[in-house]
Amino acid sequence: MNSDSDSKKGYLWAKSRMPILNRIVRKYSKSKILSDFKLGMCLHITYETAVLVTALSRAGAMISLCPANPLSSKDHVIDYLHSEVANVKLFVNNREDYSSFYKNMDRVLDTKPQIITDDGGELHKKAILRSQNVVGGTEETTSGVNRLRMLSKDGKLTYPIIAANESIMKLLLDNKFGTGQSTIQGIINTTGVMVANKRIVVCGYGWVGKGVARVAKGMGAKVTIAEVDPLLAIEAYLDGFEVGPLEKLLANNDIFITCTGQFNVIGRDHFHKLKEGAILCNAGHFDVEIDVNYLNEMDPSHFDPRPNVTCYHTNRSQCKKKFYLITRGRVVNLVGAEGNSPEVMDISFSNQFLAIVYLSKAASKMTNRVYRMPKKLDKKLAQLVLAEHGVEIDSLTPDQISYFKR
Ligand code: ADE
Repeated sequence: MNSDSDSKKGYLWAKSRMPILNRIVRKYSKSKILSDFKLGMCLHITYETAVLVTALSRAGAMISLCPANPLSSKDHVIDYLHSEVANVKLFVNNREDYSSFYKNMDRVLDTKPQIITDDGGELHKKAILRSQNVVGGTEETTSGVNRLRMLSKDGKLTYPIIAANESIMKLLLDNKFGTGQSTIQGIINTTGVMVANKRIVVCGYGWVGKGVARVAKGMGAKVTIAEVDPLLAIEAYLDGFEVGPLEKLLANNDIFITCTGQFNVIGRDHFHKLKEGAILCNAGHFDVEIDVNYLNEMDPSHFDPRPNVTCYHTNRSQCKKKFYLITRGRVVNLVGAEGNSPEVMDISFSNQFLAIVYLSKAASKMTNRVYRMPKKLDKKLAQLVLAEHGVEIDSLTPDQISYFKR
């Protein structure tokens, strides 16, 4: 049980490791640039999120917040936000299920936010369905951006959205290095396994898959990549990983990690072919990558040998085997661990902060489509991080600049 002072310490620790966001807030809080702007936010309830909402509140915004996943909220952060942060309405249940999860999104929308910040696209979808009067939105994650692009293609977006996910800084620091580390951390926290010498299959070699594969390899695992995209498959191959079809990898690998954004990546035809004692988990935003519904039907007497680990038995009598699913197939780095570290979320949430400020000024001149983060901003953030770490780099001479212009 955390005391109030422990919760505050957790918040202060995260804040102290988010220097870029702190610097940006100092700049914008003097003028209260978001004065009385109503923000509706759907994010994982972590200390880093508490730092972001406190920053936005200091810049004058009124915020309503609900969780981006039914299982990822951290109780001590909820306590902290309830007790310490003004201008924030928090809609979260202690034991969130799907029904309360969606109700809390409705409660956020009932506050009539002008700007919506989402992680996964569910709140945006609801706002659009409710014909909510929103001036603009931001989106934190690849799965959410993909959904919003589809809505945009069908002409269904009712406000402009900035894909905060799509800057090099976010993809590199958060999706690759951040999620790479926190996914492996989630596996270790929940199971206690040793990674060295394990045979690990990473499904998907996008930004997250690259990060997960890199960390697992660095810890001594033998990593194989399963991919459907030939370009990503060749990249994995040239990066030195084994590459192969999942079907052929089931029987002789120990751990399977889905990072694809697709559904039923590991499905009913796969489970009975797994190695005895295999471990399955998902690092994608939605809990659809492993067919958990089928698993629960296949073995109604499944049980949890330890928290966040579920044991299933295959139901084919000639090959009865057991295997384990971590965090019920939900995003393992946030449910099984604390998500990305504050240094990482410093960049992701600085991006979010700047995108929200941009929308507060420019949304009325934008059209209802998905926008990328401006390249200039990406470079600016990279410069700030390099400076923070004391890393110096070269710059082009005037002659070199004109050479490029020729
Ligand atoms: N997504 C990944 N890690 C996170 C964190 N620590 N806080 C909020 N959202 C996250």
